[in-house]
Amino acid sequence: MNKYALVLAAGKGTRMRTKLPKCAFPILKKPMIEYIVESIEASSIDETYVVVGHQRKVIEALLQGRVSFAYQEKQLGTGHAAMSAEDALGEKEGTTLILLGDMPLIDEPTIENILSAHQRLENDLTVVTTNFNDPKGYGRIIRDKYGKIESIVEDKECTIEQKTIQEVNTGIYAIDNKYLFNTLKHIQKSAYRDEYYLTDIVHLMRHEYTVGTYTIRDNSIVMGVNDLYAISIAEKVLRDSINRQFMKSGVSMINPETITIGHNVRIEENTIIYPNTTITGDSKIAEGSHIGPNTEIHNGVIHKGVNVKHSLVYDSVVHERATVGPFAHLRNNANIGQDNRIGNFVEVKKSTTGANTKASHLAYIGDTTTGSNVNFGCGSITVNYDGKEKHQTYIGNDVFIGCNTNLVAPISVGDSVFIAAGSTVTENVPSGALAIARNRQINKADYTKNLIKPKGKTVATIEKGKFSKTN
Ligand code: UD1
Ligand code: MG
Repeated sequence: MNKYALVLAAGKGTRMRTKLPKCAFPILKKPMIEYIVESIEASSIDETYVVVGHQRKVIEALLQGRVSFAYQEKQLGTGHAAMSAEDALGEKEGTTLILLGDMPLIDEPTIENILSAHQRLENDLTVVTTNFNDPKGYGRIIRDKYGKIESIVEDKECTIEQKTIQEVNTGIYAIDNKYLFNTLKHIQKSAYRDEYYLTDIVHLMRHEYTVGTYTIRDNSIVMGVNDLYAISIAEKVLRDSINRQFMKSGVSMINPETITIGHNVRIEENTIIYPNTTITGDSKIAEGSHIGPNTEIHNGVIHKGVNVKHSLVYDSVVHERATVGPFAHLRNNANIGQDNRIGNFVEVKKSTTGANTKASHLAYIGDTTTGSNVNFGCGSITVNYDGKEKHQTYIGNDVFIGCNTNLVAPISVGDSVFIAAGSTVTENVPSGALAIARNRQINKADYTKNLIKPKGKTVATIEKGKFSKTN
């Protein structure tokens, strides 16, 4: 039996009040719809169809090559959205699992449980329900006196009595594909809104077909996200569940409620994550590393035994035992070598450093390839931009760069070079050289007595090598 997923993601998401279409809105920096498609991909479903409409290009770009698309030109409700998939899906034989594009926490085991319950109960339609203490906003499940599902009534259309029902429609349905498209033809426009409600399939099918329900205990898995507050709730649920899994697998978290780890992040055991730390994207943290406090890592690869504190690491790699921070910024393919020290207020961009290299304070290293055992003195700058283009700097091994040095790129510095503090180096430096690129100091002896003495101010004079002040 073939299994299809039909995901409805054409809606505007008016209640979000954001420019992005709702299903593309990020949760832990990943678009909502991607969570749903990932769970479907992990399941036994054979083909996935996503209905797009409002800002369709945004959703299509996110899912290109992974799913087939159907197009709902005008957003006339969930029933109409499902109908829009008729050309693509209508003729197929099998079971279709309908999902909404605003339920980011749906997971693969839940999908499998629904599909097997649908089969086991031999239903033509299985409506997936759950219970909420506060069911506001959800369609309520109306049952007859035998407990059989009769219909679904939207929150806004409930009577006062119906509003007290806590069993709600999750928006997930498992249904025989042929019956789905046969029934959709009979849905009428709602009496209340200019919309065709998918929920109408329940009362349309209940007499002629076997219609049943499957209830999910953990309601957070199927919560619908309709506004930014719900985004924050979904994010919290996801964060707690991810953190719990990591802590159970040997990742120590100090004050875990302040720690946010993305869905695709891998962290090995024996690591410590300190408060106010966010690790997202395709990041990997290897064994023995200490990350945080106050650190953000996105698409970062952190090798064993690394220490990153009060720092930002984006799209970059840090090799074994290096220390980063406090207040360092690694970005755009910074590749930090083993046993490096990247310290206070140091920015590294698109640069590679060899082993044992140090930039302990106040440096900018950009578009640079650096060897091993290099010391960037305080205030060192690779001057990579001439106002029009970026240029490369090459630095060999065992190089000492004195404080406040500018290396004006394009430039190449050989091995075992020493650059005097305060140099602005504009020409290549050969291996073994001492480079001094600054004006020689001039001391004008016995000079300051010539300075005009400002009224009532202190003037510094130098007498016989001693420094004294006179009024
Ligand atoms: C829907 C259900 C409600 C259920 C709730 C669960 C209906 C009528 N209501 O309400 O019973 O309790 O979900 O979260 O089905 N969409 C389209 N095209 C449209 C309209 C919507 O593709 O014309 C998509 C949206 O992008 C969204 C999904 O369908 O991903 C659900 O739409 P939404 O407006 O959020 O429905 P709810 O009011 O939450
Ligand atoms: Mg919704």
